[in-house]
Amino acid sequence: MISTPILLDYQSSTPCSKDVVDSMKPFWTEIFSNPSNKSNLAGINASAILESSREKIEQNLLINNKKVVFTSGATESNNLALLGFARNYYIKTGNYGHIITLKTEHKSVLEPLDQLKKEGFLVTEITPEKDGLISEENFIKSIRKDTFMVSIMMANNEIGVIQPIENISKICKSREIIFHSDFAQCLGYIELNDLLSNINMITMSSHKIYGPKGIGLLLIDNDIDLQPLIVGGGHEYGFRSGTLPLPLIVGFTKAIEIAVFNQKKNAEKLLLHRNTLLKGLLENNSGLLINGSINNRLPHNLNLTALDVNGTKFHKILKSKIICSSGSACSNGQPSHVLLALGRSFKEAESSIRFSLGLSTNSQDIKQAIQILTDTVKSLR
Ligand SMILES: Cc1ncc(COP(=O)(O)O)c(C=O)c1O
Repeated sequence: MISTPILLDYQSSTPCSKDVVDSMKPFWTEIFSNPSNKSNLAGINASAILESSREKIEQNLLINNKKVVFTSGATESNNLALLGFARNYYIKTGNYGHIITLKTEHKSVLEPLDQLKKEGFLVTEITPEKDGLISEENFIKSIRKDTFMVSIMMANNEIGVIQPIENISKICKSREIIFHSDFAQCLGYIELNDLLSNINMITMSSHKIYGPKGIGLLLIDNDIDLQPLIVGGGHEYGFRSGTLPLPLIVGFTKAIEIAVFNQKKNAEKLLLHRNTLLKGLLENNSGLLINGSINNRLPHNLNLTALDVNGTKFHKILKSKIICSSGSACSNGQPSHVLLALGRSFKEAESSIRFSLGLSTNSQDIKQAIQILTDTVKSLR
């Protein structure tokens, strides 16, 4: 008998780790001054902590050619990168140029691009291959003379597929196209090496890596200029005004340090559990389709379609037993635009499920999840 549902929805959000919570403690009540106020010692001290957070982030992410701009999260970072760069491009050149993205991007990329379309820019949304990956050939074909910006995420939030970002960044660089990538889902799960230094703008979010909610960042090449979305004080190099939330920044910095340090170990553990889950589900059920490439994929993601089951009933039964996602946590109950882009029908998209494992997921959770899903599918066929 299972009383509490099994949590397999860590791509929606993660809990703050204890070390992260501890790191933030002094900054709520003791070191609380405004880091922008350099007219007194307390403000100067807060400012030094802010700048040392930026330096620690640069060191952990192995970057030395970028500004670290703090935002409220990945949604804001994506908006700032896309709206900010495109509007600045128009001011500089007087042209509405062409932007390339992928149909399966997060809505916080697709909706700012819709806004840019309304303003006069041209946007191409490339349809990925059936496995969710972008075809480099299609990508090259979609580049036009006036293409000035590309936004393609590193790892997909729904199906977990990892795009060939290194190659895309090289293609962009060789054609002097600015490349933005959303790293909200992959930080802490993939090896970074020097990958980031070749991407012009990078989005990250704290609450996906056991850090606090309400804080994210945009890494921006030093020579890039953006039109800010929020003005009034000139904070964050003039890109994002507003008093900086030092406790959240310190917590996020700690979360990045821990995530990068433990990346390999965590990825191995998650992959083991994810593969056990997949194996158990495939052995016990027929008619399960894996959504997205299984090889180029985040270690903690699994997205499946259960054929011949009613999607509404499927999720209704599962709701009390497993906390997981019926597609994307941000999709407002609509069939997933990601699964539709992969060629799944409405019905198939509705009977799909995303499991995302976390650092506290254990073998017992996996065993129970296999049993619950198998029983549910059986009862509905
Ligand atoms: C790929 C991706 N980008 C952006 C976001 C938005 O992140 P945030 O909650 O930090 O605004 C998410 C959240 O699920 C995401 O998965």
